[in-house]
Amino acid sequence: MTIDLASTSDSLSREELFRRINALKKEMNALVLAHYYTLPEIQQVADIVGDSLALARAAEKTDADVIVFAGVYFMAETAKIINPGKLVLMPDARAGCPLADSCPAEEFRRFKAEHPGALVITYINSTAEIKALSDITCTSSNAEEIIRQIPLSQPIIFGPDRNLGGYLAKKLGREMILWQGYCYVHDEFSESSVLNACREYPDAELIAHPECREEVLRHASFIGSTKALLHYTVNSPVQTFIIATEPGIIYEMQKLSPRKTFIPAPKDPGNPRTLCTQMKQNTLEKLYLCMLNRKPEILVDETLRLASLGSIQRMLEMSPA
Ligand code: 13P
Ligand code: SF4
Repeated sequence: MTIDLASTSDSLSREELFRRINALKKEMNALVLAHYYTLPEIQQVADIVGDSLALARAAEKTDADVIVFAGVYFMAETAKIINPGKLVLMPDARAGCPLADSCPAEEFRRFKAEHPGALVITYINSTAEIKALSDITCTSSNAEEIIRQIPLSQPIIFGPDRNLGGYLAKKLGREMILWQGYCYVHDEFSESSVLNACREYPDAELIAHPECREEVLRHASFIGSTKALLHYTVNSPVQTFIIATEPGIIYEMQKLSPRKTFIPAPKDPGNPRTLCTQMKQNTLEKLYLCMLNRKPEILVDETLRLASLGSIQRMLEMSPA
């Protein structure tokens, strides 16, 4: 039976939704995975909260029958590619990643053809079609480790994020052919907006995700994936941080370091989009209803699944846990 969202969301309290979700987890033998950018209540009810790599690894290792992915589409799609036999659900399958969608397969195929002989390394924030055109997938956690294993003489195409690609090329001292995609959440931090925040909080350290622009990264004391940023705030003696990534991560930062202060990096007045609206589409009500109704289910065509699996498996082999 399908239950209508409107008819339940008004009537169920947050505590009741927690109770029902936890009961369904047991009943369905389900694992709930959530990214750090999701709403606090989603992070509270999830079995595992992590960055893209940790969540892909959790999906690879689980013996649950059902994976419920509170994240964006490419994350759930990757879980399904790894686990064709499991039921993979998303609270809202319309929660896509605009960065992934900025790299259409046909255009990328042409781009690849312009650079014969180049090895194609793509960020996990990409569609299954792009992964099928790639040699190796990577995340912001393991991109550096993977690229270091490729001989310097080997040309590399990196996509779809130009900022992460540019950051890696500079750090590793090698040229890479970059697809010009970007994430609106990170690309809209400007040098002036973060410098204003640094002036306002002189004791704070600026830390940033590598999807930010070079002129922002240049001022950061630490650059890393969401998980690396989180660990940095736990281990550093510094008490105040300016966080240049999606502010959903601050929930976990504050939980692990309750005495420290976390300031979301501001944006310029004309660019107020600080949140990843797609991640925030995962609400508690939708999480409950997707488990209850066993949909929306994430499906991947078997030919596409097999074509995209190789690049994901290569990533997992090249960066063992
Ligand atoms: P992480 O892998 O660092 O969590 O990044 C995912 C993402 O979508 C960043 O915008
Ligand atoms: Fe995609 Fe950016 Fe949202 Fe990450 S923050 S899921 S890259 S739109």
